[in-house]
Amino acid sequence: MADEKCTSVTEAEDNAIRLSRRQFSKWLVGGIGAFMASAVGVPIVGTIFSAALGKREAAEITLGKLEDYPIGEPTVAQFTVMQTDGWQRTIASRSVWVVRNSDSDVTVFNGHCTHLGCAYNWKDDGDHAEHFVCPCHNGIFTKDGSVTSGPPPRPLDTLSVQIKDGHVVISYEDFRSGIPEKTPV
Ligand code: FES
Repeated sequence: MADEKCTSVTEAEDNAIRLSRRQFSKWLVGGIGAFMASAVGVPIVGTIFSAALGKREAAEITLGKLEDYPIGEPTVAQFTVMQTDGWQRTIASRSVWVVRNSDSDVTVFNGHCTHLGCAYNWKDDGDHAEHFVCPCHNGIFTKDGSVTSGPPPRPLDTLSVQIKDGHVVISYEDFRSGIPEKTPV
């Protein structure tokens, strides 16, 4: 039953738009950003996520101004990525959690739980307050990403992050779920 929940999250997140090569070229010329914004309904802050020889490359994505992320309060950021796989282009929504630890120190976690890839949330109050909670199998993580209980086999996956001209810039990539090692997909 719990696995069904996971599947539905993945399906929703990968509610992808498959494009022909011709359509894709048209978009590049005609203003791809505006079209994707209306199609997927989340802010466009980065797109390209390529697959070459079966190996995906991280996508550099700007998550907005550092000052917009409150210190000590994990904040979710959503965006779209475009995956290329031979002829096929897929647009999918992704999310990350941004934890600003101080004026200039920021940690960013991939939005997938490391158990089976469900989306997790930050809890401010109630049970497991001040923790990340994954509803699929009750995986619990601290603010720094460590597992405190549940089946996740490793901490939340951190992403490479830089501050450029006052903006938070990440290298987005996905990792295999369900294994102890942090391994790019
Ligand atoms: S997917 Fe199972 S605990 Fe998160």
